[in-house]
Amino acid sequence: MYKNIHDTCLIGTGYWGSIIFNTLNKITKKNILTYDINKKNNILLKKKFGNKVVISKNIEEILECRNIKNIILATHPSVNYYLAKKFLNNKKNIFIEKPIVKEQKKMKKLIYLAKKNNVILMGGYIYLYNSYIKKIKKLLNKKILGKIKFIEINRKNLGPIRNEVSAHIDLGSHDLSILLYLFDKKVKLLNIETKKILKKSVSDISTMNLKIGNILCDINSSWLNPTKERRLLIIGSKKMLIFDEMETVNKLKIYNKYAYYPEISKFKNNYISNKARIYKGKTKNVFVKETDTLKNELTYFARKCKQKSQPITNGEFCLKILKLIG
Ligand SMILES: NC(=O)c1ccc[n+]([C@@H]2O[C@H](COP(=O)([O-])OP(=O)(O)OC[C@H]3O[C@@H](n4cnc5c(N)ncnc54)[C@H](O)[C@@H]3O)[C@@H](O)[C@H]2O)c1
Repeated sequence: MYKNIHDTCLIGTGYWGSIIFNTLNKITKKNILTYDINKKNNILLKKKFGNKVVISKNIEEILECRNIKNIILATHPSVNYYLAKKFLNNKKNIFIEKPIVKEQKKMKKLIYLAKKNNVILMGGYIYLYNSYIKKIKKLLNKKILGKIKFIEINRKNLGPIRNEVSAHIDLGSHDLSILLYLFDKKVKLLNIETKKILKKSVSDISTMNLKIGNILCDINSSWLNPTKERRLLIIGSKKMLIFDEMETVNKLKIYNKYAYYPEISKFKNNYISNKARIYKGKTKNVFVKETDTLKNELTYFARKCKQKSQPITNGEFCLKILKLIG
């Protein structure tokens, strides 16, 4: 139908969709088919990218378009289920931005449909394609920090404020994806404290207390914060690590610092003290080659669609997250 068209169509060209378009534009020389129910967003995209943007008339046209093999949904969780079902039943591979859908039942149905139609279903949990997070996984595997004791993740900013889902779902789901990836262990939600400030139906500020094996973990999410914070802290028995995305350089640091109580058996007769000891060594910047995370994620999706092999952020992975927050 359309000539010189990329095999991936983008649906939803709002804030994040337009960023996805920009990245797709770097990946392919071909024109890119898009669709948004809001015509204003289509016009804005066209103004920015000119003829590279091909605007589809409606969803049905995309469903029928044989050149389109893969779909990216950068729409809201309330419409994702309805849209995804149509495309999966039409044997199109699908990438859905987090947090995918609101209900576990709907996620399970999408997983079933992807399997039935032998197509790929991938969730947009972008941090799994981030070079810093990959580096942290390698460091943890090498047990550089000793035994992990505590983790704290802060994801705060003023906006974007969501209407449909609370902050722990919109923001905290990113952090749950990071924890599931880093530890590959069962994550248990112990408690969740939410604060509804701007309106009654969704919370703006939240803290999730979790346990990953024996590791205690707090995830703090807020879209009602004057400054932007994106910080992962890991406290180990031998060292501590901070990944601070807001730093322009040296985002990843390992602090050669720790605290401990001496074992009673090691007390000398002439010196008995039950005080905690603190060790403060040097701090090391960990070099990480920065890559375009969204480009990594989208090229990975395209590769998995071609290979017909399961992505790491497949439907089951998304369901695990939904089970924790849903
Ligand atoms: N991975 C990330 O880091 C990241 C970052 C930002 C947003 N997101 C996710 O991306 C999704 C979109 O967020 P956003 O900030 O771009 O929201 P947005 O409101 O700016 O954009 C959503 C777009 O979807 C369109 N839309 C809604 N219903 C539609 C339908 N039935 N058919 C076609 N288009 C429809 C809207 O008109 C709008 O343009 C959310 O789920 C959000 O959580 C992910």
